Amino acid sequence: MRTLVIYYSKTGNSRVVARAIAKKLQIDLQEIRCDQYLGAAGDLRAGLDNILGRKPKLPQIPDLDEYDQIILGGPIWLGRPCAPIRAAAHQYLKSKKSVGLFVCGMGPDDLDSAAKELASLLDAPVDAVLKAHGEMLDTPEFKSLVEEFCNAMSREPTTA
Ligand SMILES: Cc1cc2nc3c(=O)[nH]c(=O)nc-3n(C[C@H](O)[C@H](O)[C@H](O)COP(=O)(O)O)c2cc1C
Repeated sequence: MRTLVIYYSKTGNSRVVARAIAKKLQIDLQEIRCDQYLGAAGDLRAGLDNILGRKPKLPQIPDLDEYDQIILGGPIWLGRPCAPIRAAAHQYLKSKKSVGLFVCGMGPDDLDSAAKELASLLDAPVDAVLKAHGEMLDTPEFKSLVEEFCNAMSREPTTA
Protein backbone atom coordinates (compact mmCIF):
# COMPACT_ATOMS: atom_id res chain seq x y z
CA MET A 1 0.00 0.00 0.00
CA ARG A 2 1.38 3.44 -0.97
CA THR A 3 0.43 6.36 1.22
CA LEU A 4 0.71 10.10 0.66
CA VAL A 5 0.33 12.86 3.26
CA ILE A 6 -1.32 15.96 1.74
CA TYR A 7 -1.34 19.02 3.94
CA TYR A 8 -1.83 22.76 3.99
CA SER A 9 -0.19 24.96 6.62
CA LYS A 10 -0.37 28.74 6.90
CA THR A 11 1.87 29.22 9.93
CA GLY A 12 3.74 25.92 10.27
CA ASN A 13 1.86 23.86 12.88
CA SER A 14 0.20 21.48 10.42
CA ARG A 15 3.58 21.08 8.71
CA VAL A 16 4.96 19.77 12.02
CA VAL A 17 2.08 17.28 12.24
CA ALA A 18 2.42 16.19 8.59
CA ARG A 19 6.18 15.72 8.90
CA ALA A 20 5.85 13.73 12.13
CA ILE A 21 3.38 11.36 10.43
CA ALA A 22 5.47 11.05 7.25
CA LYS A 23 8.62 10.36 9.25
CA LYS A 24 6.97 7.71 11.40
CA LEU A 25 5.36 5.92 8.43
CA GLN A 26 8.25 6.63 6.01
CA ILE A 27 5.88 7.97 3.37
CA ASP A 28 5.70 10.82 0.85
CA LEU A 29 4.57 14.36 1.64
CA GLN A 30 2.74 16.82 -0.59
CA GLU A 31 2.23 20.41 0.57
CA ILE A 32 -0.67 22.44 -0.80
CA ARG A 33 0.33 26.07 -1.45
CA CYS A 34 -2.29 28.81 -1.48
CA ASP A 35 -0.53 32.17 -1.69
CA GLN A 36 -3.79 34.12 -1.41
CA TYR A 37 -3.83 33.30 2.32
CA LEU A 38 -0.32 34.55 3.11
CA GLY A 39 0.23 37.24 5.74
CA ALA A 40 -2.24 39.48 7.55
CA ALA A 41 -4.30 40.24 4.43
CA GLY A 42 -4.45 36.50 3.90
CA ASP A 43 -6.03 36.12 7.36
CA LEU A 44 -8.97 38.25 6.26
CA ARG A 45 -9.36 36.31 3.04
CA ALA A 46 -9.05 33.02 4.95
CA GLY A 47 -11.78 34.05 7.38
CA LEU A 48 -14.07 35.28 4.64
CA ASP A 49 -13.62 32.19 2.47
CA ASN A 50 -14.40 29.97 5.44
CA ILE A 51 -17.49 31.93 6.43
CA LEU A 52 -18.77 31.74 2.86
CA GLY A 53 -17.73 28.11 2.41
CA ARG A 54 -15.56 28.99 -0.60
CA LYS A 55 -12.97 26.51 -1.86
CA PRO A 56 -9.87 27.54 -3.83
CA LYS A 57 -9.12 25.61 -7.02
CA LEU A 58 -6.03 23.49 -6.34
CA PRO A 59 -3.53 22.20 -8.92
CA GLN A 60 -3.61 18.53 -9.92
CA ILE A 61 -1.26 16.18 -8.07
CA PRO A 62 0.32 14.27 -10.98
CA ASP A 63 0.93 10.84 -9.36
CA LEU A 64 -2.13 10.82 -7.11
CA ASP A 65 -3.47 7.62 -8.73
CA GLU A 66 -0.38 5.75 -7.57
CA TYR A 67 -1.42 6.14 -3.93
CA ASP A 68 -4.00 3.83 -2.37
CA GLN A 69 -4.07 5.61 0.95
CA ILE A 70 -4.18 9.38 1.61
CA ILE A 71 -3.69 11.29 4.84
CA LEU A 72 -5.07 14.83 4.63
CA GLY A 73 -4.84 17.61 7.16
CA GLY A 74 -4.44 21.27 7.99
CA PRO A 75 -5.57 24.08 10.28
CA ILE A 76 -8.95 25.14 11.60
CA TRP A 77 -10.26 28.54 10.50
CA LEU A 78 -13.28 30.00 12.30
CA GLY A 79 -14.25 26.65 13.74
CA ARG A 80 -14.16 24.81 10.41
CA PRO A 81 -11.53 22.91 8.41
CA CYS A 82 -9.62 25.57 6.42
CA ALA A 83 -10.62 26.31 2.82
CA PRO A 84 -7.59 24.58 1.18
CA ILE A 85 -8.30 21.35 3.07
CA ARG A 86 -11.99 21.40 2.21
CA ALA A 87 -10.94 21.91 -1.41
CA ALA A 88 -8.43 19.05 -1.19
CA ALA A 89 -11.07 16.70 0.24
CA HIS A 90 -13.26 17.57 -2.74
CA GLN A 91 -10.56 17.38 -5.44
CA TYR A 92 -8.19 14.65 -4.26
CA LEU A 93 -10.06 12.14 -2.11
CA LYS A 94 -12.80 10.92 -4.41
CA SER A 95 -12.52 7.13 -4.92
CA LYS A 96 -9.74 6.71 -2.37
CA LYS A 97 -10.38 3.56 -0.33
CA SER A 98 -8.34 4.46 2.70
CA VAL A 99 -8.18 7.91 4.24
CA GLY A 100 -6.75 9.39 7.44
CA LEU A 101 -7.37 12.95 8.58
CA PHE A 102 -5.79 15.46 10.89
CA VAL A 103 -6.84 18.89 12.05
CA CYS A 104 -4.72 21.45 13.85
CA GLY A 105 -6.24 24.19 15.99
CA MET A 106 -5.04 26.95 18.27
CA GLY A 107 -6.33 25.06 21.33
CA PRO A 108 -8.53 22.01 21.96
CA ASP A 109 -12.00 23.63 21.69
CA ASP A 110 -12.77 23.27 17.98
CA LEU A 111 -10.94 20.03 17.24
CA ASP A 112 -13.88 17.60 17.50
CA SER A 113 -16.34 19.62 15.44
CA ALA A 114 -13.78 20.50 12.73
CA ALA A 115 -12.65 16.87 12.43
CA LYS A 116 -16.28 15.78 12.17
CA GLU A 117 -17.00 18.34 9.45
CA LEU A 118 -13.92 17.29 7.46
CA ALA A 119 -14.90 13.61 7.68
CA SER A 120 -18.42 14.48 6.52
CA LEU A 121 -17.01 15.83 3.22
CA LEU A 122 -15.76 12.38 2.20
CA ASP A 123 -17.57 9.50 0.53
CA ALA A 124 -15.39 6.92 2.22
CA PRO A 125 -15.12 5.96 5.88
CA VAL A 126 -12.14 7.41 7.72
CA ASP A 127 -9.54 5.02 9.13
CA ALA A 128 -8.04 7.36 11.73
CA VAL A 129 -8.22 10.97 12.88
CA LEU A 130 -5.52 12.97 14.66
CA LYS A 131 -6.55 16.13 16.51
CA ALA A 132 -3.67 18.40 17.47
CA HIS A 133 -3.21 21.99 18.57
CA GLY A 134 -0.37 24.45 18.58
CA GLU A 135 0.36 24.19 22.30
CA MET A 136 0.98 20.44 22.30
CA LEU A 137 3.34 19.97 19.36
CA ASP A 138 6.49 19.46 21.42
CA THR A 139 4.91 17.35 24.16
CA PRO A 140 4.93 13.59 24.82
CA GLU A 141 1.12 13.71 24.38
CA PHE A 142 1.58 14.73 20.74
CA LYS A 143 4.17 12.00 20.19
CA SER A 144 1.77 9.35 21.45
CA LEU A 145 -1.13 10.73 19.36
CA VAL A 146 1.06 10.46 16.25
CA GLU A 147 2.03 6.92 17.20
CA GLU A 148 -1.59 5.89 17.76
CA PHE A 149 -2.67 7.50 14.47
CA CYS A 150 0.14 5.85 12.50
CA ASN A 151 -0.64 2.44 14.00
CA ALA A 152 -4.28 2.82 12.97
CA MET A 153 -3.29 3.89 9.44
CA SER A 154 -1.03 0.85 9.11
CA ARG A 155 -3.88 -1.54 9.76
CA GLU A 156 -6.22 -2.77 7.02
CA PRO A 157 -8.56 -0.07 5.61
CA THR A 158 -12.07 0.21 7.04
CA THR A 159 -14.71 -1.29 4.75
CA ALA A 160 -17.93 0.60 4.09
C1 LIG B 1 -8.18 33.05 9.80
C2 LIG B 1 -7.87 32.14 10.94
C3 LIG B 1 -8.90 31.67 11.74
C4 LIG B 1 -8.64 30.79 12.79
N1 LIG B 1 -9.69 30.29 13.51
C5 LIG B 1 -9.46 29.34 14.47
C6 LIG B 1 -10.53 28.73 15.18
O1 LIG B 1 -11.70 29.03 14.97
N2 LIG B 1 -10.23 27.79 16.10
C7 LIG B 1 -8.94 27.40 16.38
O2 LIG B 1 -8.73 26.51 17.22
N3 LIG B 1 -7.90 27.98 15.73
C8 LIG B 1 -8.12 28.93 14.79
N4 LIG B 1 -7.07 29.50 14.12
C9 LIG B 1 -5.71 29.15 14.52
C10 LIG B 1 -5.11 28.01 13.72
O3 LIG B 1 -6.05 27.00 13.42
C11 LIG B 1 -4.01 27.36 14.55
O4 LIG B 1 -3.07 28.31 14.94
C12 LIG B 1 -3.33 26.26 13.77
O5 LIG B 1 -2.52 25.50 14.66
C13 LIG B 1 -2.49 26.83 12.64
O6 LIG B 1 -2.05 25.81 11.80
P1 LIG B 1 -0.98 26.14 10.67
O7 LIG B 1 0.22 26.70 11.42
O8 LIG B 1 -0.67 24.83 10.05
O9 LIG B 1 -1.54 27.15 9.74
C14 LIG B 1 -7.31 30.39 13.07
C15 LIG B 1 -6.27 30.88 12.27
C16 LIG B 1 -6.54 31.74 11.21
C17 LIG B 1 -5.40 32.23 10.35
